[in-house]
Amino acid sequence: MCEVYQQLAKDCLAHIDFDQTSLWISLGSIAFNPIFWNIVARKEYHSKLLTKLAFGNSRLGCYGLALTIFSLGIVRDILYEKALRDQPAWSFFTENSDIVKALAIASFSVGNVLVLSSMWALGVTGTYLGDYFGILMDDIVTGFPFNVTNNPMYYGSTLSFLGTALWFGKPAGIFVTVFVLVMYLIALRFEEPFTAEIYAKRERERAQKTK
Ligand SMILES: *[C@@H]1O[C@H](CO)[C@@H](O)[C@H](O)[C@H]1NC(C)=O
Repeated sequence: MCEVYQQLAKDCLAHIDFDQTSLWISLGSIAFNPIFWNIVARKEYHSKLLTKLAFGNSRLGCYGLALTIFSLGIVRDILYEKALRDQPAWSFFTENSDIVKALAIASFSVGNVLVLSSMWALGVTGTYLGDYFGILMDDIVTGFPFNVTNNPMYYGSTLSFLGTALWFGKPAGIFVTVFVLVMYLIALRFEEPFTAEIYAKRERERAQKTK
């Protein structure tokens, strides 16, 4: 049984064309985005860079960053689709296309519900690093989708990548999806402690005031 899976995994890997430049460009843009927003957001936190660029208006600065991150995301999605077009399909996927396409739709739908509902719950500034601008949420959002996962945006985005890969039956897409997940997990290791400290600082200041 295990050998069957090993053979399948080997066959899957054999259907990734690593010589396609478009694959590496896609991986590059996936890596670039979280690195970019973490660097820029920390610059904002420490030196108010974006707020200064937005004429001293932190909310406007955050909207500017939101628009930039959103646009970078669209570019990343276009590059991913282009990379998949240059890749071979895998007969295992195309021969089982009914179930694979159903899984693709499920994965893409769940992913998008997670992303869109978390944007809805957090608002623009909550979604796009507003806390680095000093725009903090009043309370931690605990309703859906945050009662399902702590990071619905990242896991939702990963599921959308997976859904697209399955839809086109391209193993390279599965490879890219794993890379997306790894990049997000790395980003979380930087972001979670940092934002936790921003909110802890506010709590300390609140406690000081009520003394
Ligand atoms: C999360 O919250 C939603 C809406 O409040 C609810 O319908 C759902 O059952 C909850 N899910 C879990 C896993 O608690």
